[in-house]
Amino acid sequence: MIKLYNVSKTYAKSMTKAVDDLTLEINKGEIFGFLGPNGAGKSTTIKMITGILTPDSGTIELNGINIADNPVAAKSLVGFVPDNHEIYETLKGTEYLNFIGTMYGVPPAELRSRVEEYAALFGLTDALPDMISSYSHGMKQKLSIVAALVHEPKVWVLDEPLTGLDPQSAFQLKQLMRKQADQGNTVFFSSHVIDVVEKVCDRIGIINHGKLVAVDTLENIRNNDKVSLESLFLTITSDGESK
Ligand SMILES: Nc1ncnc2c1ncn2[C@@H]1O[C@H](COP(=O)(O)OP(=O)(O)O)[C@@H](O)[C@H]1O
Ligand SMILES: [Mg+2]
Repeated sequence: MIKLYNVSKTYAKSMTKAVDDLTLEINKGEIFGFLGPNGAGKSTTIKMITGILTPDSGTIELNGINIADNPVAAKSLVGFVPDNHEIYETLKGTEYLNFIGTMYGVPPAELRSRVEEYAALFGLTDALPDMISSYSHGMKQKLSIVAALVHEPKVWVLDEPLTGLDPQSAFQLKQLMRKQADQGNTVFFSSHVIDVVEKVCDRIGIINHGKLVAVDTLENIRNNDKVSLESLFLTITSDGESK
């Protein structure tokens, strides 16, 4: 479960709020798609949920744990796939996954079997003994997806995870998101691409200029609005990019 109450963030030297009074609750067992144009505040929100940035005001809880009060306990629940896939280039794939797994206290046998399973799913098995510096962008992206799952996170947060992913891996990732949600975990991912969100999510939030402008189930959006999500999104964000 992810709860944000009146969360705001302004970057130093900026005149405007990157995230403006955001209140949002995402339940266990749910895949939530956070949709918005470039610069809307998606990554800033995600960095606050994962504890990388501290909100200026407001509260964030993960499964009932307040991040500000119990940062380590809250962060241990999270698996995070960042949008830049900047991972330790000087390690081998296996070393990186072992490092992450050990940091999260995953028992070695379980770590081995999870790495085996997830690496196979993304066609990474043969590359694991190689240095990460030799990986393509897509392989780094897949490694960072696997790394985010080895400790079986209760809250899985992914920033633009499907951007640039090959079709097979995108399919596997969507299946994994559903599997995580079906196991009672919470999945939160951002995208600026409607098609992706439309296909995978249970509920959608649209953010523009740091403000949440719509939240609803995909079903309600389809049934009530009589317009496609695409036209709704375009209407709401009709001024295009927020900068
Ligand atoms: N490190 C930063 N310093 C200053 N401004 C930033 C920084 N990161 C993002 N911003 C600004 O905050 C706003 C929201 O950005 P971001 O959260 O990255 O949006 P999104 O992920 O939706 O594209 C934008 O106006 C962006 O330029
Ligand atoms: Mg972003």
